[in-house]
Amino acid sequence: MRSEKSTPTIGVHIPTARAADAKPVLEVRGLSLRFGGIRALNNVSFSVAPGSITALIGPNGAGKTSLFNCISGFYGPFKGEVLFRGHPITRLRPPVRARMGLARTFQNIALFRGMTVLDNIKLGRHAHMRSNLLDGLLYWGRAHREEEALTREVDERILDLLELGPIRDESVANLAYGLRKRVELARALAMQPVVLLLDEPVAGMNREETEDIARLILKVRDEWKLSVLMVEHDMGMVMDLSDHVAVLSFGRLIAQGKPEVVQQDPEVIAAYLGTNAAGQLEPATQEVHA
Ligand SMILES: Nc1ncnc2c1ncn2[C@@H]1O[C@H](COP(=O)(O)OP(=O)(O)OP(=O)(O)O)[C@@H](O)[C@H]1O
Ligand SMILES: [Mg+2]
Repeated sequence: MRSEKSTPTIGVHIPTARAADAKPVLEVRGLSLRFGGIRALNNVSFSVAPGSITALIGPNGAGKTSLFNCISGFYGPFKGEVLFRGHPITRLRPPVRARMGLARTFQNIALFRGMTVLDNIKLGRHAHMRSNLLDGLLYWGRAHREEEALTREVDERILDLLELGPIRDESVANLAYGLRKRVELARALAMQPVVLLLDEPVAGMNREETEDIARLILKVRDEWKLSVLMVEHDMGMVMDLSDHVAVLSFGRLIAQGKPEVVQQDPEVIAAYLGTNAAGQLEPATQEVHA
């Protein structure tokens, strides 16, 4: 686990084992969450194997984002535990979890529209740096050196990897939706994640943009040796990319396993109200039980 006080190590990522029986990098145990009388999560347990791509699926309102919020620390569960590399993190604040290596993107894009692509990506790391953003902007002492190293790293490792080099200095406000989602992914990478949490990374994208992002997620996982937990409604993408799929319905985990097995599970099919002509699951909307 990274020390909160250490100077950020530029370009270093903690390698993860790929063995199927390796200890989970992330685990939730018996998680329950309530909003007033609403049970958004009901005794949910599952885990993410190191180096895997795990998909969290389920109809609208099933509790997927709520679960992400419990993992990243924005919501405190009413019951249960979140473990990161075997350590309980349930009571740690979101920035502490982020510094440990849990980086997320949001279902709705959360970028600074007036800033450039490069500066938005660098903000991911500022959360971890000893010098703060103001120091960074003013270029003082240590901040100056850290900023230079960070810019170099983003240029060499992240912009290249996500094919954002040509728009590095563009304002985010001028970018098409698909590119903005890609900048959010880049910002999450700047946080040096051990586990990348992606909430609907291809929502609202066309087929070509979706295929681009799917290819980039695989590339990031393979080159940076990290683990991915993604919420996604695009079943083609879930089936192609995932090693493991967990299914939520009305706040309960109703199935988990290999994508091809989960896809055939009768309870999963019922939760999605049937399949489409191509035999794929189609999302439905759920009202959560009080
Ligand atoms: N902050 C909140 N306050 C009250 N209720 C909430 C809050 N966040 C989520 N909920 C409720 O919890 C339930 C689960 O919502 P959540 O956003 O986790 O679903 P989801 O699976 O991410 O859905 P979608 O696929 O539409 O993004 C819903 O009934 C939602 O209305
Ligand atoms: Mg959601």
